[in-house]
Amino acid sequence: MRILVFGGSGGIGLALVQRLAQQEHNHVVATFHSHQPDVKSSNIEWQQLDVTSESQLMSLSATIGSIDWVINCVGVLHDSSHQPEKNLKSIDAEWFLSSMANNALPTLLIAKHFSANLKPSNSPKFAVISARVGSIADNRLGGWYSYRSSKAALNMLIKGISVEWRRSLPKVCVLALHPGTTDTHLSKPFQANVPQGKLFSSEFVAEKLIKIISSTTNDESGSFLAYDGSPIPW
Ligand SMILES: NC(=O)c1ccc[n+]([C@@H]2O[C@H](COP(=O)([O-])OP(=O)(O)OC[C@H]3O[C@@H](n4cnc5c(N)ncnc54)[C@H](OP(=O)(O)O)[C@@H]3O)[C@@H](O)[C@H]2O)c1
Repeated sequence: MRILVFGGSGGIGLALVQRLAQQEHNHVVATFHSHQPDVKSSNIEWQQLDVTSESQLMSLSATIGSIDWVINCVGVLHDSSHQPEKNLKSIDAEWFLSSMANNALPTLLIAKHFSANLKPSNSPKFAVISARVGSIADNRLGGWYSYRSSKAALNMLIKGISVEWRRSLPKVCVLALHPGTTDTHLSKPFQANVPQGKLFSSEFVAEKLIKIISSTTNDESGSFLAYDGSPIPW
């Protein structure tokens, strides 16, 4: 299989890349943004790419050829000057827009430019790592406005893409996946209150997500699923 992983340099992305590359017949094209992992293998090809750049996405789609799986693992929750908002007082309009630009819009652009690359595959998959906190039905705690909203927008995009592709790309299965709280750079500042046994390693999550992506069919396209395969309300 030919697999394209966006955000292959992240905690979850890199674990996916490494696990997928263990299968010798897989060829994995993985993107990084600011740092290229020191992981080399004859079936891993690293590409530097900013997912917020439509021209860079277009260039990659024009050169990469056909693909069986696209997995988008890019996500931003905090940076050196921004943390998830605890209340309305802490809303920063630019950070809200940058969360949308990093967490929601790229998936729409990836779908736009890579649909032709997925078309020849017999069992194409288009999976994006969303988050349970993007579920509107599940929001009982409030806060985290920018991240929650960007993941809710991402979920709506996944639903819309799945509906459009049911007509134009009927073999594809489009999925929004929740990895569970995973021990990565993204979750580091928020791990203190995670119940025992509920902070997963990236390797564990990668295994679970690959199992879901492999086993789902186009009948299940447009689903929002947790790492254990259970459905999450939108
Ligand atoms: N960890 C969790 O507990 C958890 C829970 C729920 C959902 N998620 C979701 O899971 C996904 C993966 O998260 P993670 O925990 O693996 O986070 P991470 O370790 O912080 O990785 C983030 C990835 O995003 C890439 N990235 C950021 N901005 C980019 C840009 N403009 N262009 C291209 N790549 C960019 C980073 O690339 P560089 O490092 O090369 O800059 C890195 O590969 C995210 O969507 C996140 O929201 C995570």
